[in-house]
Amino acid sequence: MRKTAPPRTYRVKSFGCQMNVYDGERMAEMLDEQGITPAAEGEDADLVVLNTCHIREKAAEKVYSDIGRLLKGKETPPLIAVAGCVAQAEGEEIMARAPAVSMVVGPQAYHRLPAMLERAVDGKRSTDTDMPPIAKFDALPRRRKSAPAAFLTVQEGCDKFCTYCVVPYTRGAEISRPFADLVTEADRLVAAGAREITLLGQNVNAWRGEDGKGRPVGLAGLIRELAQLPDLVRIRYTTSHPADMDDALIAAHGEIDKLMPYLHLPVQSGSDRVLKAMNRSHTADSYLKLLDRFRQARPDIALSGDFIVGFPGETEAEFAETLALVDAVGYALAFSFKYSPRPGTPAATMDGQIAGEVMDERLQRLQASLNRDQLAFNEASVGRTCDVLVERKGKFPGQWLGKSPWLQSVHFYGPENAAADSADIAIGDIVRTRLVDAMGNSLAGEII
Ligand code: SAH
Ligand code: SF4
Ligand code: F3S
Repeated sequence: MRKTAPPRTYRVKSFGCQMNVYDGERMAEMLDEQGITPAAEGEDADLVVLNTCHIREKAAEKVYSDIGRLLKGKETPPLIAVAGCVAQAEGEEIMARAPAVSMVVGPQAYHRLPAMLERAVDGKRSTDTDMPPIAKFDALPRRRKSAPAAFLTVQEGCDKFCTYCVVPYTRGAEISRPFADLVTEADRLVAAGAREITLLGQNVNAWRGEDGKGRPVGLAGLIRELAQLPDLVRIRYTTSHPADMDDALIAAHGEIDKLMPYLHLPVQSGSDRVLKAMNRSHTADSYLKLLDRFRQARPDIALSGDFIVGFPGETEAEFAETLALVDAVGYALAFSFKYSPRPGTPAATMDGQIAGEVMDERLQRLQASLNRDQLAFNEASVGRTCDVLVERKGKFPGQWLGKSPWLQSVHFYGPENAAADSADIAIGDIVRTRLVDAMGNSLAGEII
């Protein structure tokens, strides 16, 4: 590699889950501290960080084509760092196949990015996919900026080893960040403008810690503490695993006003045989009973889930059990995927891999049901009065976009309907709104 001038501008491109979005923000903050500034939209950056996801499909191939695009027709190509879960899983291969990449950094090592960058400027390539048990978090700069709706990673890694999933390999074992660190980071996010914080973890409800008095607490205890921050108005958490759910978290939904009435609880399949083959450690029935308890604690709670169709050996009858579970729940929102064999996972070599056309057809049927229920949930919200957290301006003059407590997108016009930018509304405001019209993916509201 040749020596290059130190980069003046950067771009971080994050793919995959919200934890990657969080990591991307933290990497950007480190680069800010180095005096490097975000490249303007449409402008080429001197340094590009590809913050990758390995969960499905041809993740690695996508990285190589992204790299190709970055180099195409450039006299001075940018410095390229590959971060995230593909970096963790296939770091060495990337180094061998893509000479233009000067840094490969895993999700637990990115606090060392500035040092790697220094070497890269010096013409030296480096790979860091260590998984230090003590979190990188201590080495990251203090939070100074925040959108109104912020993410805060509280738990990382996964010990569940679902047979289809790469996360336990790319993110490592489950760890919980300390209570006090999280309270401090939340406090700084709020000082920087956050009104809503979503607590993140691959299994966020597996978070465990000790409160200020040294007493053991679970996620509910952390939420209770964060709810004391006066300027924090909303708290959410994602993603939960059915096996880690405890009574306190369920009860919290009935007790803590700032905890939003929304639960993302992936189920993956409605067939107990498939769930067992997936190593999910719950049954369809135990999952439904858990949801019932949430509904008892918080009757208006919006339920969300993840599904995989075409897991090896899934029969038409087993898939029908998934459709039946969907009918029984009535999800407000859900994410569904075709099974994707991941290298190194047990399911990838199981008998009975399902043909692509069969998966396509099942996915279509599942999504038809999920879309139907999402629209029904939105339609049932019409007439409700609720707070909307304003996150950005809409496409039309005077229009604003935000989220309802149930995580629905809501658009509305300021009081001066269509007047230039409705000066009396600002991003980060909480606006009392009546929901007046429902579409599949959003609702129209009117200010009260
Ligand atoms: N920890 C969370 C989510 C992890 S990944 C959980 O346990 O639910 C997000 C979603 O991606 C999963 O819920 C699953 O639906 C999907 N997913 C994971 N691995 C997959 C694979 N190999 N093929 C298809 N979908 C997958
Ligand atoms: Fe993957 Fe299962 Fe862990 Fe979720 S719980 S991250 S699906 S192994
Ligand atoms: Fe993807 Fe890694 Fe998240 S594989 S879904 S970026 S944990």
